[in-house]
Amino acid sequence: MYKIKTMNKISNEGLKLFGDLYEVDDKFEDEDAIIVRSAKLHDYDPPHNLKAIARAGAGVNNIPVDACSDKGIVVFNTPGANANAVKELVLCGLFLSSRKVVEGIEWAKTIEDDDFGKAVEAGKKQFVGPEIDGKTLGVIGLGAIGVAVANAAIKLGMHVVGYDPYISVKAAWGLSKWVKHATTPEEVYREADYLTIHVPANEETKNMINKKTIALMKRDVRILNFARDALVNTEDMITALKKEQVAKYVTDFGNKDLVNTPNVIVMPHLGASTPESEENCARMAVTELKDFLENGNIQNS
Ligand code: MLT
Repeated sequence: MYKIKTMNKISNEGLKLFGDLYEVDDKFEDEDAIIVRSAKLHDYDPPHNLKAIARAGAGVNNIPVDACSDKGIVVFNTPGANANAVKELVLCGLFLSSRKVVEGIEWAKTIEDDDFGKAVEAGKKQFVGPEIDGKTLGVIGLGAIGVAVANAAIKLGMHVVGYDPYISVKAAWGLSKWVKHATTPEEVYREADYLTIHVPANEETKNMINKKTIALMKRDVRILNFARDALVNTEDMITALKKEQVAKYVTDFGNKDLVNTPNVIVMPHLGASTPESEENCARMAVTELKDFLENGNIQNS
């Protein structure tokens, strides 16, 4: 029997795939493997027999990957399993970055019943935002999520310019032929009316959106960050918003300063929060773990 410890609530549809050779619990102290969603594992003390960690999600920033490798523990993730959920939220963010829906909703709550009809006329004039049709979306990072967003934006009538240093490999994943391939990120920064980033956070990408890169962008650019907090220098972003260099920042990460800055919409890391995505990620993580424990195969490590 293999002992699998769950470090978060994991979709039952995925856990069911383990079958009879496995025991699953959140209390083991001598587990063979763990399955984790967003719990931070930097203080986790693995038992000596731990063989693998499966992350039911794409990013592995919650796992000390180098320390695990040193101990011979294999770390898996589930790239692409939540791509559709994240893509849909990015599209939601794209619309919210343009049309003043959030502002309008908040304002509508303040109107007294008797005044509603009259007030609506004022609202229509106050909450005006541009259409996205015909505008240019810049996409940095053309992995599963970046490609899905780029293809969807094309269908919405946008021009899309994308950058990824590994584009020749990623193109095989089904990127629309209408997406223009930039050879540098700077080309994307200069052309984009809307910019969305889909790269992992690491030393190379940390603070990639900062005062220097923002200075290359069009005035009034709208920026979306549904990838990782560390990619954007928050202080530089707040300054750029105050100077109206950036018209709107929509992000799935944030802090109190950002939440209270005008023209910012902060969501509480909702990218993968759909039942479908939770199930897909759990199924993929369980399948990877089983294949490793039973057959020694390593995928997505
Ligand atoms: C991921 O890394 O898969 C996403 O950020 C979603 C999540 O962790 O919930």
